[in-house]
Amino acid sequence: MPATIASPPLTARPLRCRSCGAEHAAAPIAICEECLGPLDPVYEAGRPLPDRDTIAARAPSLWRYKEWLPFDGDPMWSLDTGFTPLVDAPALARRFGVARVWVKNDTVSHPSLSFKDRVVAAAINAAAAFGLDTIGCASTGNLANAVAAHAARAGLKAWIFVPDELEAGKVIGTSVYGARLVRVRGTYDDVNRLCAQVADRFGWGIANVNLRSYYGEGSKTVAYEIAEQLGWRLPTAVVAPMAGGSLLSKLKKGFGEFLDAGLVRGQAPRLYGTQAAGCAPIVRLVERGGDAIEPEVPKTICRSLAIGNPADGVFAARAMRETGGWAAAVSDPELVEGIRFLAEDTGVFAETAGGVTAAGAVALARAGRFQPQDEVVLCITGHGLKTVEAVQGAIPAAPVIAPRLREVTTLVEEERTWPSR
Ligand SMILES: Cc1ncc(COP(=O)(O)O)c(C=O)c1O
Ligand SMILES: [Zn+2]
Repeated sequence: MPATIASPPLTARPLRCRSCGAEHAAAPIAICEECLGPLDPVYEAGRPLPDRDTIAARAPSLWRYKEWLPFDGDPMWSLDTGFTPLVDAPALARRFGVARVWVKNDTVSHPSLSFKDRVVAAAINAAAAFGLDTIGCASTGNLANAVAAHAARAGLKAWIFVPDELEAGKVIGTSVYGARLVRVRGTYDDVNRLCAQVADRFGWGIANVNLRSYYGEGSKTVAYEIAEQLGWRLPTAVVAPMAGGSLLSKLKKGFGEFLDAGLVRGQAPRLYGTQAAGCAPIVRLVERGGDAIEPEVPKTICRSLAIGNPADGVFAARAMRETGGWAAAVSDPELVEGIRFLAEDTGVFAETAGGVTAAGAVALARAGRFQPQDEVVLCITGHGLKTVEAVQGAIPAAPVIAPRLREVTTLVEEERTWPSR
């Protein structure tokens, strides 16, 4: 019999309260039992960390940074998520008046075409470590797609709760995987409250409720990848969309961890967060100052970012302030224009959150937030085919012709007289 080397069983790291410091054993729990504060996984100081060459030799997925992800042992599921392209975007650099721009292109994230694959890769391994057979989420759409896709591959049951008014792509892109999708009459904040009760009642792993401490860590891998793909250095500014504010705050943590580990040197990038003006509680907190979110009732076509009472809003606002960044909100027509120029300038077709980020970067440039020597990364987090409704009325309709050369000739002649956009 050939000898087999058993890999160590997957375990989740213990948790510590960010507010009071109380320690908790690894568990699917949402908040600190002492003070109701948020919980973070504990990584022991002095643990062995890989160097640049070791990381670079590993498979191109987010698990190449596994020492900074909240598990011991080898991950069981979603081994192929992450390591999306970093796309050079000189036309955007000219548009923003800066030295360089790159798009971190999570529109092609595997398998569900948004950065939520990263957080679900973490959550589903937490579910495995805790022996849970059902996973779920409260979602504005992309997380729903991701939980459904990852659960299907892992053979877990999925119960997914969304606000009733979501784009067709988000609804079909969830149900197609065989997940139980429930549309709740109400806002995301209503859905989230319901999911907290669901987690308690049924003992399921709800990715962004009782698995949130593990789930959130997946977002840090965007920062690690940017640093590695730039040749182990940091950009001067990063612009990212915000809903709950988790991605933005985890970018700060991720860049900080790579600086602490000596994998990159210099200064952490200035972090800029973007939201749609019809739901911008975090932008308004940055502008107002202080430490208290004022919840809003969302009114925007950017449903993916429509969280009126963001769980990590205060931490995101602090991350922007502490890094010397800022925030910007854009109108719905501006975000649609953002989707269009991002596509025309870079070949990347983004959903509404990407339009918010592209248009938000223009607003930040106009407000003098960037310097000519800046090197800026835009986090473009979800694919445009998920929200075609947003641009349908804004792009020219294609002509329909008979299969005759004469008709094409007419079109070509007509085009010569068009004003350029
Ligand atoms: C495409 C997209 N980008 C960004 C975000 C923001 O994520 P966070 O809740 O971490 O702020 C979301 C959240 O749903 C999203 O769907
Ligand atoms: Zn506490």
